[in-house]
Amino acid sequence: MIPRPSLLRDLSASYVLTSGVTVSGDLVDAVRTALAGLDPLPGDSGEIDVRRDPSLGEEAYRLTVGSRGVEIAAGGRAGAFYAAQSLRQLLPDASYRFSSGGSWPVPGVRVEDAPRYAWRGLHLDVARHFFPKREILRLIDLMAVHKLNRLHLHLVDDQGWRVESRAYPLLHEVASHRPRTATNYYREPETYDDVPHGGYYTLDDLAEMGAYARSRCVTIVPEIDVPGHASAILAAYPEFGATGERHDVLDRWGISPAILSPLPPTVEFLTTIFDELLGALGETPYVHIGGDEVVLDHWAASAEIAAYRESLGLATANDLQAWFLRRLADALAERGARAVVWDEAFVSGGLRQDTVVMPWRGMNVGRRAAAAGHDVVATPVFPLYFDYAEASSPDEPMAIGDAITLSDVAAFSPAPAEWTEEERGHVLGVQAQLWTERVPDARTVDYRLWPRACALAEVAWAGSASDDFPGRLGEHLGRLDALGVEYRPLDGPRPWQRRRPHRPAGVRVTEVMARIDAMTHHAESTRPSI
Ligand code: ACM
Repeated sequence: MIPRPSLLRDLSASYVLTSGVTVSGDLVDAVRTALAGLDPLPGDSGEIDVRRDPSLGEEAYRLTVGSRGVEIAAGGRAGAFYAAQSLRQLLPDASYRFSSGGSWPVPGVRVEDAPRYAWRGLHLDVARHFFPKREILRLIDLMAVHKLNRLHLHLVDDQGWRVESRAYPLLHEVASHRPRTATNYYREPETYDDVPHGGYYTLDDLAEMGAYARSRCVTIVPEIDVPGHASAILAAYPEFGATGERHDVLDRWGISPAILSPLPPTVEFLTTIFDELLGALGETPYVHIGGDEVVLDHWAASAEIAAYRESLGLATANDLQAWFLRRLADALAERGARAVVWDEAFVSGGLRQDTVVMPWRGMNVGRRAAAAGHDVVATPVFPLYFDYAEASSPDEPMAIGDAITLSDVAAFSPAPAEWTEEERGHVLGVQAQLWTERVPDARTVDYRLWPRACALAEVAWAGSASDDFPGRLGEHLGRLDALGVEYRPLDGPRPWQRRRPHRPAGVRVTEVMARIDAMTHHAESTRPSI
């Protein structure tokens, strides 16, 4: 199984599940959702019987398969859902395919299981390239198979805005598309494809995605990345920018100086956006507000913004950024959501204590945030940025750099042993990031995510990958095949997955990070220790 359960014991008696299997008990709907495709039916005394056990945590479960059928004890709906996901992994791979009627032998087992971490996340950048609703629903299903439970959607960046707004319709009408896209990276002169790219989720799409995710025990974490990365917003509404100038939706990569104004009208604009977002998505406990890679030059150069900063008694543009993000976090708190930020926002200071920090620039800054009492989700570039190639091979498709391997991910420790007990206690969990500058389509999403996300799931659920992970992964690939996932084969890409033109050879993680530091010179550098 992947992820590995806490305890798995073989029993001698086995059982045969057939299509139309009956499910009875307390949490029938969760089991039926997880076993969709096997056409499970509700029944009075089902072949699968589910009982709530209040002594177990919400996500914990016990699963017993014996000669009389399947018994599940679950702490809550999530526990029942994960028990059924584990049960499915005991069936042949073909159980993941649609078939009209089927009969599946299940080995007798006793499983006792609970997750090590509460936050088991995947991030997808839908701004640089847009992935339509159907791809998000499919990704949620794949996450559920792996007991991953947070889908962080990066909904805006310089290159696009991806949500309908009824209050500010130019966001989806103007900011959601660009006329062309850069096809190279770190290389002059720039080349472009001259192909329009765009798309956005309607509020109805978001409502559906939120409900679909919840039914599969996944929480969507929307990100509105501010105050930097603002070109697309400022293509639609330049009046919310620091200079008032109109920008274009960016057609190339890198860090732009486009920045929102911190003045009250911008805060009001963003809180209206939060209301629309939360209203559509439904129960949304976390909203990410970015705070990364901010170029503060336009704030420093603006007399109006400097006067505003002084009126607040703040000494520097950096302090003003901290104040701005705190106002947004306060607005979210009033709406029942906790803010999540990238680590630069922690380094700028002044966060609400309940703000969750994502230390992308390395675990050193993550430890500082945890020591300061913030909950932390481990997200360091190395080894959790899946936009890096999986091998240093010219066969790999174009990537920002190389290499982050499957075994790098499997070896990762979200709460390192050298941290204090208290610091470790602040690690909510772990999340992989998929930035999509060089991920133009859903097939490439599959290639980049899988099987590295299997290793992520193992670390997130079990706490670490065990020695038998490679063997279990080898078997698990058959499930991914049945699910139609175009993962990266363990020995490298298939012929049609090989490199595209313009791939820069051998750009290492540390070089990429140094470039980012140079571009965001107001922020304290926190180079990763890799
Ligand atoms: C980031 O990679 N800018 C969070």
